[in-house]
Amino acid sequence: MITSGAPQSNHARLTAAAAARLGLACVLVLGGPPAPDRRGNLLLDELAGAEIVWSGDRPLAEVVAVEAERRSAYVIPFGGTSSASVQGYVDCGRELRAQVPDIDGAEVVVALGSGGTMAGLVREMGAERVVGVDTGAVPDPRATVAGLLDGQVEPGALRIDGSQVGAGYGVVTDAVRAALYETAREEGVFLDPTYTGRAMAALLAGSFPHGDRVVFLHTGGLPGLFGHPELGQLTPARRTPR
Ligand SMILES: Cc1ncc(COP(=O)(O)O)c(C=O)c1O
Repeated sequence: MITSGAPQSNHARLTAAAAARLGLACVLVLGGPPAPDRRGNLLLDELAGAEIVWSGDRPLAEVVAVEAERRSAYVIPFGGTSSASVQGYVDCGRELRAQVPDIDGAEVVVALGSGGTMAGLVREMGAERVVGVDTGAVPDPRATVAGLLDGQVEPGALRIDGSQVGAGYGVVTDAVRAALYETAREEGVFLDPTYTGRAMAALLAGSFPHGDRVVFLHTGGLPGLFGHPELGQLTPARRTPR
């Protein structure tokens, strides 16, 4: 299997793990120059036996095409998102319905990267119930999510919050850092700085209108936190007493 992503891609790490489980070889094409060390997801990629190919200055898609031609490989698209993979979060929407009985009146807040997660939830729950918080992973998230829904939903009906992109994908902002600290100290729940931290920062900022019930969907990605040890060396946000 071959897939591609950012150096701290959670999707790439999960592909490496799935390939290991299935006894398949796995090549991960990761963006940019070789990382100086194996932190966070990169450590797990290595543990799972994936071969890492760094794209350097070349576009990821170009390197994936070269690697795929050299072997007989199944290529999983960037971020794991395709019209088939959307089904994963259709199933998640169904699980939410089963686990949260009054979910139909609530809004679900989720991180938006390459779009499959939000698209699946929208297909299952309806566009009005889902708020995607853009992480800056793709240039036009609205068109990306709408494209995955095969014309079922008007792009304008999708609720996308762009307030947390900051300097761009993967760059930690003050709001994200504050959200990581606050959620850990108030709830004992740990977030990652690229996806769930951005979604929580938007929720805490109250930057979209919402009713009295909100479901924050934690999509995982915790290993990405360990790719950012500098987060622990910054002055921690002040603890807010309950
Ligand atoms: C932890 C985490 N949450 C959310 C997302 C967003 O998912 P999608 O790419 O389907 O928009 C990702 C994507 O990699 C992720 O790693």
